[in-house]
Amino acid sequence: MKPVLVSGIKPSGKLHLGNYLGALRNFVDLQNSGDYQCFFFIADLHSITEPQDPKELAKNIPDLFAVYLAAGLDPKKSVIYQQSRIPAHSELTWILNTIAPIGEMERMTQFKDKAAKQEANVNMGLFDYPVLMAADIILYDAAVVPVGDDQLQHLELTRTLARKFNNHFGRTFIEPKGLLTKASRVMSLKDPLRKMSKSEPESCLFLDDSPEDIKKKIARAVTDSGTSIEYDPERRPGLANLLDIYAALARMEPAAAAKKFSGQPYSALKGSLAELVADHFADFRTKKKKLLAKPAALQKIIDAGSIKAGKIATKKIETVKKKIGL
Ligand code: ADP
Ligand code: TRP
Repeated sequence: MKPVLVSGIKPSGKLHLGNYLGALRNFVDLQNSGDYQCFFFIADLHSITEPQDPKELAKNIPDLFAVYLAAGLDPKKSVIYQQSRIPAHSELTWILNTIAPIGEMERMTQFKDKAAKQEANVNMGLFDYPVLMAADIILYDAAVVPVGDDQLQHLELTRTLARKFNNHFGRTFIEPKGLLTKASRVMSLKDPLRKMSKSEPESCLFLDDSPEDIKKKIARAVTDSGTSIEYDPERRPGLANLLDIYAALARMEPAAAAKKFSGQPYSALKGSLAELVADHFADFRTKKKKLLAKPAALQKIIDAGSIKAGKIATKKIETVKKKIGL
């Protein structure tokens, strides 16, 4: 049997190039490698730990499904599903809560960051986010979990919980390993010292952006007052970010991208990059539109994937309950 791989993304708005290069493209590559049994889900229970407009959320869920499919995730090769459709995720979270050490939970940096950002809504769900994530993973006996480096602490907790459960109740779960993406962090177009984030739309290249918007945003991207194109992330972070993006999409090394443009003005790099980004997502944009134009067909795919994942998860939660005497 191939090792199981599980990962998910929250349906909390449009995806940007950072999400794509840091997560989604990696999902597609891993699926197509044929090395894993892949499970990819929409982490909708995770997204409600931050305030959501119900109408928006209900739109964002099928939208992210369409993004998954348009980017190349294939329901014939991977199980693709919606987290909240499978009660076992919530059930296992509750059970794991009873062995989750508060001390370790309180050290979670993402919780501390998010709590600081949403002071008016520091809810239990936000605190429990990492336990739900652990449940998502060990419910399917995942051996590997592709994540960004910001999620490694959650993965460490996942391993702790799997180990603790096994020690108390007998071998039940696998301790998963994180699989970091090769692609470096995509930085903001406006402030190359910060990561590209949807909280600053102007600094983001969204996967849905039109070629005109892509061109405009890249033309305005912050660089420096130099003239020569060279790859120097320390001293010239804005230029390095553009070269990183170019290199990641063209699947080459950033230094090779710098060489390709050496002797040319910044505007030449910006022009070529805008074209590369627009072309890269041309097929994606068309496919996504087509998928969203047929909501019933899309829903059918969501249903089928969720039923498939649900069967596996239900079996596992039954085993878990038996082990603990429920
Ligand atoms: P955002 O920061 O825009 O709110 P999320 O936190 O929802 O994005 O991230 C979803 C996924 O995308 C995670 O796996 C995260 O590691 C990855 N990711 C987010 N921003 C970037 C970025 N700028 N560069 C690389 N990966 C990113
Ligand atoms: N917390 C992850 C993120 O913000 C999303 C996520 C939820 C996840 N559950 C998961 C990723 C399980 C991998 C496995 O990116």
